[in-house]
Amino acid sequence: MKNQRTLFECAECGASATKWFGKCPVCGEWNTAVEVERELEKAEKAAKIKRVPPSYENTVVKFDEYEVGATKRETTGMGELDRVLGGGLVPGSVVLLAGEPGIGKSTLLLQICKTLAGEGRKVLYVSGEESRDQIKLRAKRLEGLSEVESLYLLTETNVSSINGQADKLSPDIMIIDSIQTIYNEGISSAPGSIAQVRECALSFITKAKNEGISMIIVGHVNKEGGIAGPKVLEHMVDAVLYFEGEKIRSYRMIRAIKNRYGSTNEIGLFEMTDCGLCEVPNPSEMLLSDRREGVSGSCAVCIMEGTRPVIAEIQALVTPTAFPAPRRTANGVDYNRACLIIAVLEKRLGFKFYTNDVYLNVVGGLRLDEPASDLAIALSLISGARDIPVESGIIAVGEIGLAGEIRAVSEIEKRISEASRLGFKKILVPYKNMEKVKTQKYPDVEIIPIKSIYEALAYCK
Ligand code: TYD
Ligand code: MG
Repeated sequence: MKNQRTLFECAECGASATKWFGKCPVCGEWNTAVEVERELEKAEKAAKIKRVPPSYENTVVKFDEYEVGATKRETTGMGELDRVLGGGLVPGSVVLLAGEPGIGKSTLLLQICKTLAGEGRKVLYVSGEESRDQIKLRAKRLEGLSEVESLYLLTETNVSSINGQADKLSPDIMIIDSIQTIYNEGISSAPGSIAQVRECALSFITKAKNEGISMIIVGHVNKEGGIAGPKVLEHMVDAVLYFEGEKIRSYRMIRAIKNRYGSTNEIGLFEMTDCGLCEVPNPSEMLLSDRREGVSGSCAVCIMEGTRPVIAEIQALVTPTAFPAPRRTANGVDYNRACLIIAVLEKRLGFKFYTNDVYLNVVGGLRLDEPASDLAIALSLISGARDIPVESGIIAVGEIGLAGEIRAVSEIEKRISEASRLGFKKILVPYKNMEKVKTQKYPDVEIIPIKSIYEALAYCK
């Protein structure tokens, strides 16, 4: 029998099969089968992809005797991005910057070139999407980019040409915009396909690791929100950053999905303006800017995004249902957590949510993963159900237990000082947290200890 020439791979998990499949047998996703060439290995040889051994010697070392060389992080000139990276770009690391087309990835990267190309460092910006004119025109809109000396531009999509040019220039930092446009001539599938993306990324990563080049690779996100191409890209790089936001609104958020050199809890906030992206050092102010006082179904909460306290607004809409099974939607709040809080309110306080549809939303596209937001979710639900606004100037922090008790949360002092900075007058905190709080430190805000959800009712009547 003639050898089968094609192979099918799942675009989500990278699992391979010799036959086409509707549902991936490994990850269970539908319609993810993509045809890839069986002759990948032959193609590699044809394209002369050099798999060079790493420059350091692979010998066994004694753990306690091994000393790490001094790694100095390079600042990107954008504090918000540095924070997400864990303090700056680590030399020799590979970062994947993913986001929907048009969100501002190229703009951000061009902007950070200004600082990255300082202090004698050479930066090579490889664009497979835009012409030199387009990039230069964009740079004109961005402040201070025209004076950058050691920034080099290459508009090329062939992986071996790019690597060849890079060998001649020997840059310290390389930016690839975007991996979906780069191709390897030895592979017959189109640029952006799994095989292309994987092979091109691999050859860039090998180069980065062998020569100690810091690399930032741009990856487009497909409609479902995954990085187009296989998940393998995420495993191959040192850090994966997601750049997200709504195109119609000007705010953009960057968060780390994976980071070998820092925490994944941090977020960075930007605003898209006429002259590029501007940092938003005060996210709480931004998130509260549209807030209307005196409206029912809204409550403020202070959550921790990594090391930084952020104040968010939770909104709840409670309306009589027309369906036998009432609707519940939760945007920015974990759905199961929302159902749990609704159940606690029904059981402990006698609310009749089973006759109502409930829609929960967190303003500004923030995601509240912390249980510390429970009390604020409950208060917004109570306020929505009663159609009475929560007392003005109130902010609530606390985890709710199944018995309706309010449990202690971490880093209470940071949350209180942020609330006080933003002018909140009263803060509801878990009773158990009170021993640690030095109330005299916050003269402008009244700190109210809460033991059970029942006590919270008094602030919405
Ligand atoms: P871009 O960086 O090209 O997005 P990506 O590389 O992620 O596809 O961003 C393009 C959008 O940003 C475009 O809609 C125009 C807008 N923009 C501004 O609003 N102000 C600016 O100064 C620049 C350069 C772009
Ligand atoms: Mg772009």
